[in-house]
Amino acid sequence: MAMTGGRDMDAEMAAKLLEWQVEMGADEAILDMPLDRLSPAPAAPSPTQAEQTPPPPADRPPALQSPSAPQPPAEAPMAPAVAEQARRAAECTTLEGIFAALDAMKEFPLRRTATHTVHTDGHPQARVMLIGEAPGRDEDRQGKPFVGRSGQLLDRMLEAIGLDRKAEDPQRAVLISNVIFWRPPGNRKPTEAEAAHCLPWLVRTIEIVQPEIIVCLGATPAQRLTGRTQGILKLRGNWLEYELGERRIPLLPTLHPAYLLRQPVQKRLAWRDFLSLKLRLATLERS
Ligand code: URA
Repeated sequence: MAMTGGRDMDAEMAAKLLEWQVEMGADEAILDMPLDRLSPAPAAPSPTQAEQTPPPPADRPPALQSPSAPQPPAEAPMAPAVAEQARRAAECTTLEGIFAALDAMKEFPLRRTATHTVHTDGHPQARVMLIGEAPGRDEDRQGKPFVGRSGQLLDRMLEAIGLDRKAEDPQRAVLISNVIFWRPPGNRKPTEAEAAHCLPWLVRTIEIVQPEIIVCLGATPAQRLTGRTQGILKLRGNWLEYELGERRIPLLPTLHPAYLLRQPVQKRLAWRDFLSLKLRLATLERS
């Protein structure tokens, strides 16, 4: 039996409350210590501190945050570390090689807190490569990208235009990956340093797969791969290019499925983007 607000709570009520929290999106207990809600409240942050607090991620389901929710590590100077990642990534010649190198990266903080490394799912010779932001809870548990609720929506959207991550025929297949290969604790937004660390590995993945088309799910992959800074509502639906050496790969930013789950009315925009993708695939096939 537990006590809340002076009222006795039986096991059934406690289970119902827990169920409700799960339905609301809480997916883990992220407090290390019990929180004393009766102690005096800490002073409100100064305006400067408040300004520095990042806004909640626009396109990923927010976990319930708390004062002691995992915070991103302080940013360190990046350039040499990123160059080292690029050097190591360049040594890999297969997707399996990239996965093994990432999975062995025990020194990287995100690798240590994650259950699984989440690299790619789908067909390695697919025409279309889809790229999201970072694994969530379900992806971390299963070791595959987009297997939770947003992944199920993504699968239905792909099916509607004749694509399928399980297809054996590369014409109908897709390959799915993310900018970040480990779940950020508490589903927080990845830091600049984490994204910079992972990017050479994503670029190497693209070099190996050589997709005909890249689809970016949400702002993070679209901005990382194109250098654009606009939000996803501005970028989406506009065909851009990803420069891969001499090649220019057509790149389509679209809305992240997690955002669509929260804003179903925006599905019509995503539908337009997926029809544009279908048309582009047909055009490329004929040329
Ligand atoms: N959201 C992402 O951006 N990637 C996943 O793999 C799952 C959810």
